[in-house]
Amino acid sequence: MSEVSQVRWHGVGLQGGFGLTRWGRLRWGTAIVLAGAATGAQAYDAERAQALAKQNACFGCHAIERKLVGPSFAQIAQRYKADGTAPARLVKKVVQGGAGVWGPIPMPSHPRLSEAEARVLVDWVLAGAPRK
Ligand code: HEC
Repeated sequence: MSEVSQVRWHGVGLQGGFGLTRWGRLRWGTAIVLAGAATGAQAYDAERAQALAKQNACFGCHAIERKLVGPSFAQIAQRYKADGTAPARLVKKVVQGGAGVWGPIPMPSHPRLSEAEARVLVDWVLAGAPRK
């Protein structure tokens, strides 16, 4: 299994310029620094995550875009997109199971998943469950 992860950077752009006006005054035109929302790198391994999701029957209750028994992976990604504490919490939740966040239906525990495997799944879900 490859350990290679895809890394996406949120763009850091720099635009600038200045010009002389007709009156000879130095004028700054645009000097906009877009320090692209420092969300950092997001790493996931879509291939490995999808294999694990199949082996562990995640797709029996979750679809990527549609709510089934559980919320869609897209909904989960949306809900936690600004929550830096989500990954660790969700890794535990996937392994131990639980209910009450999306409704009364519980997610069963997945004791056969290692924490590392659960992490691969959660990183991928939080990235919006991309195919690649
Ligand atoms: C038997 C059905 C079922 C299976 C199988 C299942 N889930 Fe869930 N999952 C749920 C339900 C129901 C919820 C909503 C739980 C809640 O409201 O707290 C959920 C919630 C989640 C959440 C969000 C948890 C939160 O607290 O917001 C993640 C992430 C998740 N599942 C991932 C997975 C992964 C990965 C697998 C496969 C290892 C999996 N699920 C297998 C039913 C399932």
